[in-house]
Amino acid sequence: MNDLTPTREQRTAALEGMGCKRKRVEDIRFTQGRGNYVDDVKLPGMLHGDFVRSPHPHARVKRIDDSAALKVPGVLAVITAETLKTVNLAWMPTLAGDVQMVLADGKVLFQNQEVAFVVATDRYAADDGINAVIVEYEPLPPLVDPFKAMDKDAPVLREDLVGKMSGAHGPRKHDNHIFEWTVGDKELTDAAFNKAEVKIKEMISYHRTHPSPLETCQCVCSFDKIKGELTIYGTFQAPHVIRTVVALIAKLPEHKIHVIAPDIGGGFGNKVGAYPGYICAAVASIVTGKPVKWVEDRIENLTATSFARDYHMTTEIAATKEGKVTGLRVHVLADHGAFDACADPSKWPAGFFNIVTGSYDFPTAHLAVDGVYTNKAPGGVAYRCSFRVTEAAYCIERAMDILAQKLNMDPAELRLKNFIKAEQFPYHSALGWEYDSGDYHTAMRKMMETTGYAALRKEQAEKRAAFVRGETREIMGLGISFFTEIVGAGPSKNCDILGIAMFDSCEIRMHPTGAGIARMGTKSQGQGHETTWAQIIATEIGIPADNIMVEEGNTDTAPYGLGTYGSRSTPVAGAAIAMAARKIKAKAQMIAAYKLEVHEDDLEFDIDGFRVKGLPERFMSMKDICWAAYNSVPPGMEPGLEAVSYYDPPNMTYPFGAYLCVMDIDVDTGVYKVRRFYALDDCGTRINPMIIEGQVHGGLTEAFAIAMGQEIRYDEVGNVVTGSFMDFFMPTAVETPHWETDFTVTPSPHHPIGAKGVGESPNVGGVPAFSNAVNDAFSFLGATHIQMPHDFWRNWKAAKDLGAVA
Ligand code: CDP
Repeated sequence: MNDLTPTREQRTAALEGMGCKRKRVEDIRFTQGRGNYVDDVKLPGMLHGDFVRSPHPHARVKRIDDSAALKVPGVLAVITAETLKTVNLAWMPTLAGDVQMVLADGKVLFQNQEVAFVVATDRYAADDGINAVIVEYEPLPPLVDPFKAMDKDAPVLREDLVGKMSGAHGPRKHDNHIFEWTVGDKELTDAAFNKAEVKIKEMISYHRTHPSPLETCQCVCSFDKIKGELTIYGTFQAPHVIRTVVALIAKLPEHKIHVIAPDIGGGFGNKVGAYPGYICAAVASIVTGKPVKWVEDRIENLTATSFARDYHMTTEIAATKEGKVTGLRVHVLADHGAFDACADPSKWPAGFFNIVTGSYDFPTAHLAVDGVYTNKAPGGVAYRCSFRVTEAAYCIERAMDILAQKLNMDPAELRLKNFIKAEQFPYHSALGWEYDSGDYHTAMRKMMETTGYAALRKEQAEKRAAFVRGETREIMGLGISFFTEIVGAGPSKNCDILGIAMFDSCEIRMHPTGAGIARMGTKSQGQGHETTWAQIIATEIGIPADNIMVEEGNTDTAPYGLGTYGSRSTPVAGAAIAMAARKIKAKAQMIAAYKLEVHEDDLEFDIDGFRVKGLPERFMSMKDICWAAYNSVPPGMEPGLEAVSYYDPPNMTYPFGAYLCVMDIDVDTGVYKVRRFYALDDCGTRINPMIIEGQVHGGLTEAFAIAMGQEIRYDEVGNVVTGSFMDFFMPTAVETPHWETDFTVTPSPHHPIGAKGVGESPNVGGVPAFSNAVNDAFSFLGATHIQMPHDFWRNWKAAKDLGAVA
């Protein structure tokens, strides 16, 4: 070795593999305005479509008159449900086993529902056309309150389902009922409650909100009549699923549908499902023979595409006097809006809500969920959460604080007493999950030590005394949240979408010069896949990450995959990458053995190549092996160096975290200040610590928004009153608190590189931390549970209701 020979550390660093804070390669184009989004797609002769939408939440459509609209210069066609019926597309299937109107068919069921699609030479003409369409409505009584959905005299919303007393998920109890889902041991749980020394019961609501990505939902559909091929550019989190759905409902051969998801400006669950805009643009393109673009505006996005949450959770915990939990009982009333368009794996009508036992060792639990229809937009998507996990985490984390309050015990102490212990993993929860790994006590103690939890409690006690003495009008809250997520849908034994198992895939093709391309079934919407996927390959096969190009989002070239949502990419596709890379490595080892004239078993992998064991100078770099793969492979071996893996995970992964929010609230104005927010995340092996930190910052900002104000609110007659960013709280840098991040590492035992997902964790853990901080502050004035969102007005109202302000 001479001075110029790189050290092992230098060789490892040159790869920029796992664990490296590699800079995001996609930012080179994003920061220079060179991203390529759907709205950047401009095809020759392209037309524009836009919707006539209903002002009524519930009404009969008596007549649609498009004659004036068709006279507007530039307007070429007005598509209605009647047009769609001619091609059997007036209704479309939802991912949840329901059907949904594409365009109003006889009735409208929510405000801003799509009624007609106007196609014109430009967007302005389409808009003029919309204003010229005359629709005659007969208003019907709206059903807004989900608690009244199953009343005897409730207006029946879905006339198409009248008399059908069974749906996709079993029996229906009422014309507005969708399903009942129960899980757990009812008898054992009832028995635990009968002999409980201490019980709590609270109705904990998680309000309706919306993912509101920066870029709204949009598509360009282009039908080639000669070839009979349909190309769709769209904001799709799951391009292959969209291709299959289009093939099934439009009865087009799947190989003649090309789905391309270019750069996507945020998804957060909003871009998983299929929307009427996609169907209408495709039909319009088939009818006109021209490409048709549909781009939602902000109001349309907020009011008509998928909402999130809207779960009303009656929660009971049974416990001993010493604070050991003995049973959990939860009933959820789930408001699904006008159609059941939840994006969950098929068999899970309430997603993975049965993770509601959280991080605690509940000996028994029982859960029942009732889904109901109301006159609101459909959806129920996993907004930065894995299928209702954020609702579950909020439910249990609020309930644990309420129990702590009843026991007069510190909420941290109550959690430490009830955590699943490190030696109990793999842990079988009372509601049916097998948690893969965890070390909750270590994470919680690290959080408490780093934040100086004991000192903060002391400060809080002093502040409370000062408040009582009238020396301050500020109250201080400490909000703990200790969440366990379940991410990585998922194992084919329990997860599918439309009957397709939820595996994911990676194809790696190494070129002769030691560079390569990896193609994936996932689709980044800002998560930085182009950066991190290359890092996994770099470490696995010893080729610098800079030499690997990652490509996603084109169904013609990418192997079939189920897409990116619910933090499934790292647990499922991340594993596929490692497995494909290991196939490459295995072939590379055979080639190296042949070239170095030794047996394969005499070789060991060493950072960026293979070395003969015991003879360090006999080494062949991976770069040289790539070259050899194209000219001198062992006799009988096929040339080339490529591999594909379709990975069916054996289990989900269970990331966890310990968060603390320190908040001061002025009782006279309700104004809050987030003084500190500490987030410790454990997502197993960390691929890129900088990207993880970015994911946590973004997720916490969304959690802050949701907990402290963001809401899709309807008035009592079904009007959306928060349909724009004037009313829907969207925090800017001004409002957003400073985030402190930290971590522990507990690898997943079943994942090839030990990684768990992280993208959703901060949203899942953040919301209960904020809400617990507000509730902790007010608990001293006698509050038990104050519903979110905790905006200034509601805080002031809480203070007033509790007698703290005159
Ligand atoms: O499915 P989605 O990409 O939204 O979520 P994810 O699997 O949690 O990954 C989000 C980003 O964080 C990706 O770029 C991952 O590669 C990265 N990540 C990481 O660096 N280490 C982990 N253990 C988990 C995720």
